[in-house]
Amino acid sequence: MKAIVCKQLGGPETLSLEDVTLAPPGPNEVRVRIASAGINFPDILQIAGKYQFKATPPFTPGAEVAGTVTAIGAKVSNVIIGDRVAAIVPIGGYAEEVNANADGLLKLPADFDLSIAGGFALAYGTTIHALKQRGSLKPGETLLVLGAAGGVGLAAVQIGKLMGARVIAAASSAEKLALCREQGADEVIDYSKESLKEAVKKLTKGQGADVIYDPVGGDLAQDCFSAINWCGRYLVVGFAAGTIPEIAMNRLLLKGAAALGVFWGGFIVREPKVNAENFAELFAWIAEGKLKPYISKAYPLADAADAMRDMQARKVTGKIVLIP
Ligand SMILES: NC(=O)c1ccc[n+]([C@@H]2O[C@H](COP(=O)([O-])OP(=O)(O)OC[C@H]3O[C@@H](n4cnc5c(N)ncnc54)[C@H](OP(=O)(O)O)[C@@H]3O)[C@@H](O)[C@H]2O)c1
Repeated sequence: MKAIVCKQLGGPETLSLEDVTLAPPGPNEVRVRIASAGINFPDILQIAGKYQFKATPPFTPGAEVAGTVTAIGAKVSNVIIGDRVAAIVPIGGYAEEVNANADGLLKLPADFDLSIAGGFALAYGTTIHALKQRGSLKPGETLLVLGAAGGVGLAAVQIGKLMGARVIAAASSAEKLALCREQGADEVIDYSKESLKEAVKKLTKGQGADVIYDPVGGDLAQDCFSAINWCGRYLVVGFAAGTIPEIAMNRLLLKGAAALGVFWGGFIVREPKVNAENFAELFAWIAEGKLKPYISKAYPLADAADAMRDMQARKVTGKIVLIP
């Protein structure tokens, strides 16, 4: 089968399309014929050797896929051949096929388009978990989303609205903010042009946001602690800006606020039932026509490096996928 291979750690230029052989699925695994594979920011970190989970070259990057089960291991009983599933895998997603642990499989509704489904589970699963279990977002509260036109950011705009929040989307260009408005944001802030802190204060009559969803980190995170309401919740989602912010604890003390880590990969292992409830809610919203996962572009598998470069250059909106 064809797969993208990272032969040495580095940037997207180190990737190549190769013929590789996939071993048969292990006793607790299934083989998935991949219809689409999500591209996620951590994939860029992983090929550079900078992600928390290290992989040793040669390896195929890619953590999320959707497709059809074509073979099952001896101990697998939760799916059958032909089932349509989404899977999270440690590596191996940028390929025509992958072996995935059967325990973590997500069965997809019959009408879920497999050609976009590879870009759904990670962003939307992370975000509903962040806003419900970690942020305890309530109807009527104000949600500030940073990097709001990105993969997890746009999911936060959409899900925040569905949970009844007033959503303030913050991003780095007018085009990105126009998309956030289209996807439901009530207010927008261009943090490449104006102070995030001042703009949030203005939009909240000096109160600040109740919940802040931050996948960007860096300097913007410091502004967040000046722009958080009394009893606010700051959600640590990621560090796309490249630096992990440090918090002066007095900022939390003065607002009676909390900083809460969000780690979806850990949550799905420790709390699979709650994760399943989250997806039941997401699928219900999709079936009711209230939620439409936003996949902005599909790239051929061979163009994985270009897709990663677009993500690095902040050109991507919503989610992007590879089509083998
Ligand atoms: N905690 C979890 O469980 C979890 C799960 C999934 C993802 N994440 C993390 O969330 C973050 C975002 O992931 P994603 O897949 O949504 O990525 P993405 O689609 O690339 O979005 C990231 C956004 O960050 C902003 N950004 C600011 N500085 C940037 C820079 N130097 N390079 C690239 N983007 C920059 C960009 O928006 P502007 O141009 O508008 O600033 C971009 O849209 C990553 O750090 C990822 O590891 C965490």
